[in-house]
Amino acid sequence: MSRVRTRDLSFDLRAGETLLEGLERTGHAVEYQCRSGYCGACRTPLLAGRVEYPHPPLAYVPEGEILPCCCRPAEPVSLDIPVLEIKRQA
Ligand code: FES
Repeated sequence: MSRVRTRDLSFDLRAGETLLEGLERTGHAVEYQCRSGYCGACRTPLLAGRVEYPHPPLAYVPEGEILPCCCRPAEPVSLDIPVLEIKRQA
């Protein structure tokens, strides 16, 4: 289980959930297209923590940013991304 902190809240990723899916579930304003590391549309600033890529993404990932569609948090992460809509945690 990985703890994720954003500008507005913090939550735990569920088993088998990608970081992108977790951000969507909790109402965050994250963009995407391919959902598999090709396009770079989901680039998100990483403020703290470290992620890993099980398969190296084809999209360019600048220093200090991550691709939440295809990375896995290797430790608790802090992302510079806002919530669009605050949803109740189940
Ligand atoms: S949605 Fe395309 S790289 Fe993440």
